[in-house]
Amino acid sequence: TTMIRQVDGYLQEYLTQKSRMKGSFPDLWSARPGNNASIGTDEGLFERPWSLASSRGVVEKILCQRSLEMRDQQRAWQESPEGRRIMEFRSSLPAYKEKEAILSAISSNQVLIISGETGCGKTTQLPQFILESEIESVCGVVCNIICTQPRRIAAISVSERVASERGEKLGETVGYKVRLEGMRGRDTHLLFCTTGILLRRLLDDRNLKGVTHIIVDEIHERGMNEDFLLVVLKDLLARRSELKLILMSATLDAELFSSYFNGAATIKIPGFTYPVRTHFLEDILEMSGYILTPDNQIDDYGQERIWKMNKQAPRKRKSQISSAVEDSLRAADFNDYSLQTRESLSCWNPDCIGFNLIQYILCNICEHERPGAVLVFMTGWDDINALKEKLHTHPVLSDPSRVLLLMCHSSMDSLEQRLIFEEPEDGVRKIVLATNIAETSITINDIVFVLDCGKAKESSYDALNNTPCLLPTWISKGSVQQRRGRAGRVQPGECYHLYPRCVYDSFAEHQLPEILRMPLQSLCLQIKSLKLGSISEFLSRALQSPEILAVQKAIEYLKTIGALDENENLTILGHNLTVLPMEPKLGKMLIFGVIFNCLDPILTIVAGLSVRDPFLTPLDKKDLAGAAKSQFSSDYSDHLAIVRAYEGWKDAEKDLVGHEYCWKNFLSANSMRVIDALRMEFLSLLKDIGLVDSNMTSCNAWSYDMYLIRAAICYGLYPGICSVVHKDKSCSLKTMEDGKVLLHSNSVNARETKIPYSWLIFNEKIKVNSVFLRDSTAVPDSMVLLFGGSISKGDVDGHLKMSGGYLEFFMKPAVADMYHSMRKELD
Ligand code: CDP
Ligand code: MG
Repeated sequence: TTMIRQVDGYLQEYLTQKSRMKGSFPDLWSARPGNNASIGTDEGLFERPWSLASSRGVVEKILCQRSLEMRDQQRAWQESPEGRRIMEFRSSLPAYKEKEAILSAISSNQVLIISGETGCGKTTQLPQFILESEIESVCGVVCNIICTQPRRIAAISVSERVASERGEKLGETVGYKVRLEGMRGRDTHLLFCTTGILLRRLLDDRNLKGVTHIIVDEIHERGMNEDFLLVVLKDLLARRSELKLILMSATLDAELFSSYFNGAATIKIPGFTYPVRTHFLEDILEMSGYILTPDNQIDDYGQERIWKMNKQAPRKRKSQISSAVEDSLRAADFNDYSLQTRESLSCWNPDCIGFNLIQYILCNICEHERPGAVLVFMTGWDDINALKEKLHTHPVLSDPSRVLLLMCHSSMDSLEQRLIFEEPEDGVRKIVLATNIAETSITINDIVFVLDCGKAKESSYDALNNTPCLLPTWISKGSVQQRRGRAGRVQPGECYHLYPRCVYDSFAEHQLPEILRMPLQSLCLQIKSLKLGSISEFLSRALQSPEILAVQKAIEYLKTIGALDENENLTILGHNLTVLPMEPKLGKMLIFGVIFNCLDPILTIVAGLSVRDPFLTPLDKKDLAGAAKSQFSSDYSDHLAIVRAYEGWKDAEKDLVGHEYCWKNFLSANSMRVIDALRMEFLSLLKDIGLVDSNMTSCNAWSYDMYLIRAAICYGLYPGICSVVHKDKSCSLKTMEDGKVLLHSNSVNARETKIPYSWLIFNEKIKVNSVFLRDSTAVPDSMVLLFGGSISKGDVDGHLKMSGGYLEFFMKPAVADMYHSMRKELD
C-alpha cells in the first residue's frame, strides 16, 4: 500500500513541479531556439513587435507608409519581366479566371465554399487574390489571412511557391508556421500553417484576434483536425461577424458543408483533364502474356487470398516479363482488403511482388514509352526508401543520364522539393516516388505516367499532429480517381494499378471521415485542453458526429488511464499528454521513462510501436523468421525484443554492417532507420516541452533495469491486459471484454510453452474470426497492482478497485488475497 501511495504521489508531484517551473503548459507554438526562423515569440499568429512600444498615432502612420511601400513593390514586381512571365502562368490557371467572382463572393458572404480539380490553383492563387486586392485597396493592408494545410510539407512548399510568385523571400508578406518551425516577419499578412497549429493557437487566443480570413484547405480529406476545427470556427464566426471563412477542396460534397454553415455560398472552378488509360494488374500481365487467377487458400488468419499466375498460350507480347517479376508474382498475396493487418504489407517487401513489378514497369516505360514524368504512389517514407535503394541497383533506372529519381514525402528537404517541380534535361526521365501527399496537396506538372500501389497509410490517431502512423490500408475509389487524374494534366496519360480489378471493385467509394473511424481519445483530450466544455456535447455539433458509444468509450478509456478525472476534467497527466503528439498510451509510457530514468529503451519501444513491424515475416519463411525473432527475446516480451533488435542494429551500424545484420535477422532496415529518426524526434520534443532537460545527454540512470522497463510498458498499455491461465501443457488467455483470445503467430510469446507470469500486457488486438493479440509483454501480479490503472488520480482506492476488478474477475487466489488484505488495511 505504501508503495502504491508513493508511486502515485511521486508522479503527481513530479508533474506538478514541472508545470509550475514552466509557469504554464509548455507551448509547441514557440520555435525551437536556434532555428533559422525569424519568429519564436508567442505573441500571436501575426505579431507586430514594434507596435507594442509605439504610440497609436505613430503606429498608424507606419502602417500607412508600409502599405504604400507594399503596393509599390507589388506593382513593380508585376511589371518586371520575370513578374510578367509568372503573371502569364498564373492567369492561365482555371482559378484565375474566377478571380473576380471569388473576390466578390468573399466580400458579400461570411462563409464561402470553393471546389475545383487538383492543380487548378486553389491553394496558391486564392489567398493571393485576397492579399493582392487588399494591398491595392485604398485603405491599405488590413488583412491577416491564415490558410491551413493538413500536412506540414504542403504548408511549407505552398508558402515558398506563393512567395516566389510574388517575387519575394519567404517571411516577407508570405510566411508559414508548422510544428517546431516557421518563417514569418512583421510584414507577414498571409500565413500558411498546419491545421494543428491553428488549433493550438486557439488554446491561447480563442477569438483569433487580428485574423481577418481563415482558409481551410483540402477539406475533402475530412481529417479529424479539420472536422474539429470547423466546429470551433462555427462558434467563432458567431462571435466575430467580420471574420471570413473559406473552405477549399478538390472533390467536394459542397451541399454537406454548405448546409453545415447555414446555406453558405459555393463556387465551383471548372477544370479540364486529358483522358487517362487505365491498366489493372491483369492487364499489365496480359501485355506480357500471362493471366492471373485467384486461388483461395487458407492460412492462419483465415481469409488471405493467394493468386496464381499461369502462362497463357504464347501471344504477341509487348515485352518480356522478367523472371524476377514472374517469381514474385507466383508468391504474391493480395490480401483481402478488409484485413488491415500488418501482414498485408508483406507484398511490399523489397523481395516481393510490389517492388519487382514496379521496377519492371518503370524499366518498360523508360525503354519503350514516349517522354513524360512518372509518379509512383507508395504507402510511406519507408517503402519509398526501400524502393529507391532497390532501383539504385538497376542498370537502367540508376543511370543518371537517363533517369532522375526523386522522392516526394512529408519529410523531404526543401531542395528536393524544388527539384520535383523542375523539368529534367532532355532525354532524362523524371521518376517521382511519392506518398499520397501527391494525390491532392502537391501538384507536379509534367506527369504522364502514374503507378498506383493502391494503399496509403491511414492518417494518424492523433487529433492535433500528423504523427507518422501505423497501418497502410487500401485506398478508396475516390483516391484512385485522384491518383489517376495526376497522369492527365498536360496530355493524355497512362495509369498502372498494381492490383487486380476485383480488388479495386471492393474498395469503398469514399474514405469515411476520420472522426467516424478513428479512436477519439486524443480528440477528447484536445477538446478538454481547449476548454470547449462537455466532450459529448461538443462532438454532437460536428459535421458528422461520431457514435455516442465511441465517444463514451474514449472518455472511459481516458478516465481509466488517469488522463481525465471523474468529472471529465483534465488531470495533470492529461495536460501533459495533450502536448505529446502520439497516442496517449505511448505518451504515458514516455512520461514514465522520463520520471524513472529509463527513457532510452522506452524511446525505442514507443518508436517501434509507431512504425510498421520491424520484424519481417516473408510468407514462405515464416519459421526461419520466427526463430530469428525469438533470439531477441528471453523475456517473454515483444516490446523488449524490439529494443534488443534495435540495439543490435545500432552496434552493427557502427561497424557498417547494419544491412547484413538486418538481412540475417529478418529485420526491416527501413524500420530500423525510422525508429532511429523517431527516437530523436521524440527526445527533442520532450526537451522542447520541458519534460527532459535540454542539455541532458544520457537517458538512463539505471539503464536496463528490466523490471522498470516492463513496468513502463504496463503503465502505458494498461488496460490492454489479458490473464494467463496455465493448464497442463498449454495456457489459455482471456481478456475482460473478449473472453478467450489468441496470440498472434508473430509474437514471441506464441512460441513459448509456458509463460511465467499471470498477465500479458498488449498494445493492440485485431479481430479476424477470433481476437488476436499483437505485441505483448508478460508481467507479474505485483506490477499490475502497482502500475496498472490510474496513478494520477491520487485515488488509491479507485486504483485498487480497477486492478481489483480484474483480479476478482479472474479469481486469482494469490493476488486476490493480497488485494483484499490491502483493502482491509486501507479501510
Ligand atoms: O490547390 P490546387 O490543387 O487547386 O492547385 P495549386 O496547388 O494552387 O497549384 C496550381 C498550379 O501551380 C499547379 O497546377 C502547378 O502547376 C503550379 N505549382 C507549381 O508549379 N509549383 C508549386 N510548388 C506549386 C504549384
Ligand atoms: Mg491545393
